[in-house]
Amino acid sequence: MRAVALTSSFAAAALAIAVARVLPASGEAGGDSASVVKMIPHGYRDWRFVSIAREEAPLDDIRVILGNDAAIRAYRAGQRPFPDGSVIARLAYGYQPSDDNNKVFGRRQSFVAGHPKNGLQFMLKDKKRYAATGGWGYAQFDEGKPAGDAVLKTCFPCHQGVGSRDFVFTRYAP
Ligand code: HEC
Repeated sequence: MRAVALTSSFAAAALAIAVARVLPASGEAGGDSASVVKMIPHGYRDWRFVSIAREEAPLDDIRVILGNDAAIRAYRAGQRPFPDGSVIARLAYGYQPSDDNNKVFGRRQSFVAGHPKNGLQFMLKDKKRYAATGGWGYAQFDEGKPAGDAVLKTCFPCHQGVGSRDFVFTRYAP
């Protein structure tokens, strides 16, 4: 019992640290939109798999959606809205035929992730801070640099289309 209590308080502390890293200090958000986030969330590349998607041309990419622990827990429990501290990432890559793999098949069969595309995107849940945009802060990074406010202003209006699903398009792929 004691071990359980310690573990969960440790988890809470770790989450608090993770959220503190993820959320910019007040004033850092910049621009005139409360939903603008300018820091790449720490450790996102180690997050767990939610699902995968493919966009046809002109984007012509393959993309993976990852969640931090809080987001994955909520996804698996079917908890909506997502709790504060949830962060969802979207990484896009060129959709590329693999010449190597296709040698084995003898035809154009295999497509793999090519170059990382610009537009590394995140949604961060903080009901109070991002109240104006459904409780989500939106972030995009192009070659590591935060996108301008003009780009970030486009996020919420489109995600609003799935307001009934807490503004999140991607469903958990079992
Ligand atoms: C025109 C509509 C549209 C706009 C604008 C848009 N998104 Fe999305 N977004 C989607 C769709 C559709 C998905 C589902 C998967 C896919 O096809 O990429 C998605 C998926 C996501 C995801 C994964 C979680 C989810 O909702 O599925 C994140 C994170 C995300 N977008 C962030 C952003 C950010 C940040 C911006 C602004 C810079 C943005 N999006 C702008 C339509 C949009």
